[in-house]
Amino acid sequence: MTMSSKEMVEACTKYSLFSWSATGKVDPMPIARAEGIYLYSPEGQRWLDFNSQLMSVNIGHAHPKVIEAIKKAAETLIYVYPGMASEPRARLSMRLAELVPGDLNTFFYTLGGAEANENAIKAARLFTGRQKILTRHRSYHGATHGAMSLTGDPRRWPNEPGMVGVVRVLDPHPYDYSFGKTEEEIVANNLVYLEEIIQYEGPHTIAAMFIETMTGTNGILPPPKGYLQGLKALLEKYGILLVCDEVMCGWGRTGKLFAFEHGGIVPDILTMAKGLTSSYMPLGVMAVSDRIAKHFQDNVFWGGLTYNAHPMCLATALAVIDVLEEEKLVENSARMGEVMTGHMARLQAKHKCVREHRNLGLFGIIELQKNTRGERLVPYAGSHPVMGKLGRFFRDNGLFAVLQWGGVMCNPPLTINEAQLAEAFEIVDRGLSIVDEVVTD
Ligand SMILES: Cc1ncc(COP(=O)(O)O)c(C=O)c1O
Repeated sequence: MTMSSKEMVEACTKYSLFSWSATGKVDPMPIARAEGIYLYSPEGQRWLDFNSQLMSVNIGHAHPKVIEAIKKAAETLIYVYPGMASEPRARLSMRLAELVPGDLNTFFYTLGGAEANENAIKAARLFTGRQKILTRHRSYHGATHGAMSLTGDPRRWPNEPGMVGVVRVLDPHPYDYSFGKTEEEIVANNLVYLEEIIQYEGPHTIAAMFIETMTGTNGILPPPKGYLQGLKALLEKYGILLVCDEVMCGWGRTGKLFAFEHGGIVPDILTMAKGLTSSYMPLGVMAVSDRIAKHFQDNVFWGGLTYNAHPMCLATALAVIDVLEEEKLVENSARMGEVMTGHMARLQAKHKCVREHRNLGLFGIIELQKNTRGERLVPYAGSHPVMGKLGRFFRDNGLFAVLQWGGVMCNPPLTINEAQLAEAFEIVDRGLSIVDEVVTD
């Protein structure tokens, strides 16, 4: 039962729909197997996975220990309904309570990030008795109805008007606007603006604010210094919960287990998915603080899913956490992140198309410009033909990288080593020469 690349692509595009695309226009990479940081076509063509698929295969592909754990879980207990207790549920919940900082000790399991956020909306509303939710424009929170409404980026537009009660605000890094010059100024001005919005909306009507602690698909944006602490204090002043969405930035991606640890805060609710199982099985989690958990000891949590607390998925998460710890992958993410910064700085010095680069751990982006005055290559939600050429070049030269508007995402598995990073950036280096050709003075 082996298909050629051509057979695979023809059948997939004829009989299945592709997300965020007109299926007739997609040209998917045909993948037969994957191992470590590499993907392989049926004919043996190899690509370095420079995006960990959807920033999610954090321990690399086909880790034997996790595969073994999945087989064992299948043989032991594949499924029981959510009203039952199971050993994976007991063990993972205890492990998470130990690992997740602060008093985030109680967990609700879903099948992915969007569902974790949907349930966080419910928990915040039920706990506070308030309805409105603040979110930011440069954000993505998932594709289901509520999560899509929380999302600020253009993927929301075709789904509008969406869920009522969402108030979107500018985050500290608007696309083409600045709240100030220094990080301190940016934070102070953003929080003054935000407090005014809270006043206009009525603090007593706002249940929570959702943020991606470090924004992912909207630009790999670390929070400016002091923002998380200032934001938490401001929200607390008005009894508004802080929900940190760490679906993408959690589980070691930024060089710490959770991105909020860089900011010295603990949110009231944390949502996670992706890296927790390294995407080997679907799993999302909503973690709530002790006071919220206490509320739901006495009050009904009005949420449920057939696959809530699916034993196979939970057993997979336990095995992935073992691998993260045994192989010190969070530490490797921090160390290789510094190596990545070095490569990016070198490329910026060499290529006139590089506008700026950012990374925290192995969560990075190189942003491109169309002239040496720093004008972005691509306007908000726009495109540029040279990005198509760059994507083609990467694909033809053994690199799977995600291009976002005018940026090259740099998010390899946390297992990557120095030689492999050099291999990836050598291809990026050659690719950027194509973009240099369109840059004017
Ligand atoms: C920050 C963030 N939140 C939520 C989601 C949605 O997760 P899922 O696709 O598992 O529903 C994503 C997916 O990319 C994400 O990046």
